[in-house]
Amino acid sequence: MQDILKVAMPKGRIYKQASKLFREAGLHIPEDMDESRKLIIQIPEARMEFIMAKPVDVPTYVEYGAADIGVVGKDVLMEENRDVYELLDLGIARCRMSVIGLPDWRPVLNPRVATKYPNVASQYFREQGQQVEVIKLNGSIELAPLIGLADRIVDMVETGSTIRENGLMEHEQIFAITSRLIANRVSYRMKSEAIQALCDRLQPVIAAVASASK
Ligand code: PRP
Repeated sequence: MQDILKVAMPKGRIYKQASKLFREAGLHIPEDMDESRKLIIQIPEARMEFIMAKPVDVPTYVEYGAADIGVVGKDVLMEENRDVYELLDLGIARCRMSVIGLPDWRPVLNPRVATKYPNVASQYFREQGQQVEVIKLNGSIELAPLIGLADRIVDMVETGSTIRENGLMEHEQIFAITSRLIANRVSYRMKSEAIQALCDRLQPVIAAVASASK
């Protein structure tokens, strides 16, 4: 009998795209789950259990084995740096990590950079040979340069609406972001058949979506 896979799913905007992808791969994920407030969802038809986590916590559930696999953005993966296997680029929730500021921004000595991603920002500026003070915020990052908390921000840009509507400019793009399928190292060995079967189902769908968007 095939194992039940515990899947850490990110609540919110990525979930809809991930569940759609899973459905297109032939898995029976009920659509009414998209609006549900339940945190543990049994999906016996797909031999899965979804654990509905805050996106930033997905790699933690997977690293500790509370979930066998998970769906998570590359942004969170880079920031959290957890000990997990990255199995597949799902190609969904495309956006980018960027350095953003006011259009008239000029370099200053030891600038302050506000971000939800302090590790990503510190590493980026270290690699650029720039000394900056990183300030961790938890949301509405675009406020920081507008009200003088920081000179620039490091944040994700999807449609660009937030920066446009707040009169900000994308100065540099750091890396492209898509959601990834990750696995716990032990589960990857112990439940290899079920995990491989899922990857085999997802891969052609991902490839078809990628070639249709070219
Ligand atoms: C994210 C991100 C940007 C915005 C980018 O914020 O931090 O603010 O989305 O998307 P856009 O380019 O399509 O405008 P989120 O909506 O997660 O809220 P937050 O500000 O509370 O982090």
